[in-house]
Amino acid sequence: MSNPVGATRITILVDNKANDDLLAEHGLSVWVEAAGRRLLFDTGQGPALASNAGKLGVALHSADTLVLSHGHYDHSGGVPLVIASAPAVHVYGHPAVTTQRYAIRNGTARPIGMPESARSALERVPPERLHWTTHPMEVAPGICLTGPIPRLTDYEDIGGPFFVDREGRHSDPIDDDLALCIRTEMGLVVVAGCGHAGVINTLKYAQRLSGAFRIHAVFGGFHLGEASEARVERTMGALAELGPDLIVPCHCTGELGVEKLRQTFGERVHVGSAGARYTFDGTWR
Ligand SMILES: [Fe+2]
Ligand SMILES: [Fe+2]
Repeated sequence: MSNPVGATRITILVDNKANDDLLAEHGLSVWVEAAGRRLLFDTGQGPALASNAGKLGVALHSADTLVLSHGHYDHSGGVPLVIASAPAVHVYGHPAVTTQRYAIRNGTARPIGMPESARSALERVPPERLHWTTHPMEVAPGICLTGPIPRLTDYEDIGGPFFVDREGRHSDPIDDDLALCIRTEMGLVVVAGCGHAGVINTLKYAQRLSGAFRIHAVFGGFHLGEASEARVERTMGALAELGPDLIVPCHCTGELGVEKLRQTFGERVHVGSAGARYTFDGTWR
């Protein structure tokens, strides 16, 4: 990766939790200002995005970059709004973001893929502004997308009963899952969507891509809600070895995961919510 970026500001726009009069929603959207870029990472389901952005003074129309962490509806529902309102936005995501997929619980298949309106909106993006990413890439100096994340740990999985067919014959590998890495002066700031590749796989890969740079902060859904106790324990152990200074569990981390993080890492954990802002310039707290 390139040299560190200057001051980086992160604002959580959409999350399962919300501050003050902002809307909460099962979903995630994060606004990143770094290296002169205005980047939106995921869009939530749609309804909360414009309302929360307006109340937080975030000008969505000024977004130059939209990154889709993966194609689930709770990350891609606001795509039509962003594409319609940000005329210069470049869109990045893995080609599999548009595939249909399902969660199957108690024998019932529920479609959880990108809504049709988001697929159509992507089709209208001019090809020079639509970037399908199957490999790691820098979207700006010091700002990197991991692309598909190698699944190396033996205790992490995709985090739920996810399939590519309604019948549940074929598990969904969620190959499109990617994370955003920003190289700041204090170390890497990593933002994950749902963490379907596993938060430890994600952080280790981010570190490898950056040339073993240290992890300063991690944001995102860690998808531990349906994780076994063994997975949660091993995740805590691996996270302790990686030693981030700030851990911001959001969205689908799950109550058990959040509780374990708090017990293990104390003040280093700040539970994410819409409206929370973080500045990485050496004085984040
Ligand atoms: Fe999610
Ligand atoms: Fe997801």
